[in-house]
Amino acid sequence: MIKKGCLDIVQAKCENCTDCILAKTRKNVVFSDGNPETARIVLIGEAPGETEDETGKPFVGRAGKLLNQFLEEAGISRENDLYIINTVKCRPPENRVPTDVEKALCERYLTAQIDIMNPQAIIFCGATSLRSFWEDKKVQISKVRGNWFNVTVNGKEYRAMAIFHPSYLLRNHSMEEGSPRRLMQHDLSVIKSEILGDRQECSTNPFNKELALV
Ligand code: URA
Repeated sequence: MIKKGCLDIVQAKCENCTDCILAKTRKNVVFSDGNPETARIVLIGEAPGETEDETGKPFVGRAGKLLNQFLEEAGISRENDLYIINTVKCRPPENRVPTDVEKALCERYLTAQIDIMNPQAIIFCGATSLRSFWEDKKVQISKVRGNWFNVTVNGKEYRAMAIFHPSYLLRNHSMEEGSPRRLMQHDLSVIKSEILGDRQECSTNPFNKELALV
């Protein structure tokens, strides 16, 4: 419970945050989802949408449901393998992209979450989260997705990969070879095999380790 305890402190601060104008219109601060004690991967999206703002959980609307399907198909457990967060923790009105000021004011929560989680890998889900850590602020996901690179957060290097945002995949239905959905399947299967291994089972129960190795 060590990570959870530290994250709870950051969450309490975040839930009272009024640093930017998003605090005025939010219903809930959307801090995170997943089990911080078992997650080896931090997945970072853009910002909460309407359903996320209502529920206080990231990726629970239409895009989140599609993400769940891709994760399940790849054998990645949303509950146990991932700690899911957003670049900004409050919903921008009309789901607009968060501004540079909003991102900058929210960065301390994001970097604290990464620091405490100390993940084996970071997944940047969509351009907004990627550009927060990439030098070229106009970088396209399609140019860099699927390849590992290193990012430095508070002086520590992490392995990272960018993947398409599920909202983009909601607008792109093709399953043809080379299509965004097929590339998403590919990228998640690489993440699954290189970070999580080929185990079928994922649980906090240490006795499941044996099962996992079968
Ligand atoms: N899109 C995001 O980037 N994050 C969410 O939590 C939901 C949709």
